[in-house]
Amino acid sequence: MSVSDRFRRIAARPVVLDVQHLGMAFPGSGGGVVHALHDVSFQVRRREFVTVVGASGCGKSTLVRILAGLTAHSSGEVLLDGRPVNGPGPDRGMVFQGYTLFPWLSVLKNVMFGLEMQEVGHDAARAEALQWLDLVGLAHKAEAWPHQLSGGQRQRVAIARALAAKPRILLMDEPFGALDPQTRANLQEHLLQIWSHVDITIVFITHDIDEAVWLADRVLVLQPPDAAHPGGWLREAVEVPLPVPRTRAMLASDAFRATRERIDALIHPPQVHAAERLPVFKLTQAGDEIL
Ligand SMILES: Nc1ncnc2c1ncn2[C@@H]1O[C@H](COP(=O)(O)OP(=O)(O)OP(=O)(O)O)[C@@H](O)[C@H]1O
Ligand SMILES: [Mg+2]
Repeated sequence: MSVSDRFRRIAARPVVLDVQHLGMAFPGSGGGVVHALHDVSFQVRRREFVTVVGASGCGKSTLVRILAGLTAHSSGEVLLDGRPVNGPGPDRGMVFQGYTLFPWLSVLKNVMFGLEMQEVGHDAARAEALQWLDLVGLAHKAEAWPHQLSGGQRQRVAIARALAAKPRILLMDEPFGALDPQTRANLQEHLLQIWSHVDITIVFITHDIDEAVWLADRVLVLQPPDAAHPGGWLREAVEVPLPVPRTRAMLASDAFRATRERIDALIHPPQVHAAERLPVFKLTQAGDEIL
């Protein structure tokens, strides 16, 4: 299937997540407000994989916390399957950067947790949790404790636990941010494999533009506040012109590089650094020139 056919197909699918004119202002110190998000609107369709990139502080975590229902928004609307999001719910699974497994539960019990919340019987929950662990390649670690796993293994269990509750959407805030590059690449591939087997829509936050482009159907580029936008705002939704399934070889393709450069230019517009405005600390003796 050509890339344009693929986008036509995605556009024909039902909207799962509908974010309209979302604004968020936190109470600031001294009675002021901190505008975290300004007039953010986008839609995510069923089984779409959307990544969100942007400079530090432009509102990415705030956005994902609002989608999760962990933070109440100030203005606008968030609809999941047409229903307003007003609090946390089992229709949203979450995986964050910090290792969020319950340390007092075994790997298996961690994955069973969401299933037992849904009042699935113990034996059925156990069997199903083992299947999810198998999907993330960790059935053999079922009886281990979280502290006995590597960072990458813990995040795989966190993904299995989130998916076991059968959410409509998986929300991920820099889930691989703390991992070394090799483990991170393995988990990216693993996540795409899981996504190809499971009916799940994904919103994935990352600082890493390569990761954002390689994983996604579309990349949402958030910008920090400026004179016209008091909070972080959505600069552009960039369609990734790469076929699915993704391969590592695509990282060297012209389409990948062009998309990556475009997003990089949006996030880091060229700036002239006014060296004369930098503070000067005289730490060297004259003659210690480094040039
Ligand atoms: N609970 C809060 N109270 C007050 N201000 C907040 C709160 N949470 C976030 N902010 C502010 O909202 C803005 C956006 O923060 P957010 O954590 O969403 O950014 P981010 O894009 O996730 O940054 P990073 O890339 O560093 O994780 C920042 O200015 C931050 O200081
Ligand atoms: Mg953040």
